[in-house]
Amino acid sequence: MTPDPALDESSLDSTASLVSPSVPPSLLTEGVPLKLGVMASGSGSNFEAVNSAIAKGQLNAQIQVLIYNNPEAKAAVRAANWNIPAVLLNHRDFQRREDLDQQIVYTLRNYEVEWVVMAGWMRLITPVLIDAFPNQIINIHPSLLPSFRGVRAVEQALEAGVKITGCTVHIVCLEVDSGPILLQAAVPVLPDDTSQSLHARIQVQEHRILPQAIALAARKH
Ligand code: GRF
Repeated sequence: MTPDPALDESSLDSTASLVSPSVPPSLLTEGVPLKLGVMASGSGSNFEAVNSAIAKGQLNAQIQVLIYNNPEAKAAVRAANWNIPAVLLNHRDFQRREDLDQQIVYTLRNYEVEWVVMAGWMRLITPVLIDAFPNQIINIHPSLLPSFRGVRAVEQALEAGVKITGCTVHIVCLEVDSGPILLQAAVPVLPDDTSQSLHARIQVQEHRILPQAIALAARKH
């Protein structure tokens, strides 16, 4: 049987993406600069993307502080490169999650943070943090929520055999990877994708939508 060209998956544009909703550029640059605090546990490529957007004048904001919980986090090196204060709050130094969150709140307040961005923060958070910044904490997750919550979201999508996945920025509530959705980007799953290759393409979209979602959350508040 001759293959139907319309079904030829190799012709998929791997860079194809759909972002919804579309954010008017004016929303990103208007108003007084947003005072952001970023929380990261790992590589910090999303932290980098927000810094780049600010530096290019694509987001009117200032990152007051980076909080990281893992002494090895590359995000801390990025913070030094951008001249942004970085505070290590190692979860191993705290007996209870609430104690860590109390220190996070103290640090965020100390740096006069208004909006909190969880950019790869790999710890569960408690009402101590959520109640201190009600509806002012946002999170980025590598799936189209509500599908594939929790860890290994990219692997979960591959295991489920979905043909489209993506990333989501949402307001944080107590339930993990839940809360009102701000912005999503769709990413096609390619036939030969590994979790690494798929995550890499999802991250391109994460870096694109996170600055937009910050503006969306803050300016529509
Ligand atoms: C991202 O994929 C994000 O969606 C998830 O953790 C990852 C962090 O990546 N919550 P990075 O540290 O920003 O590179």
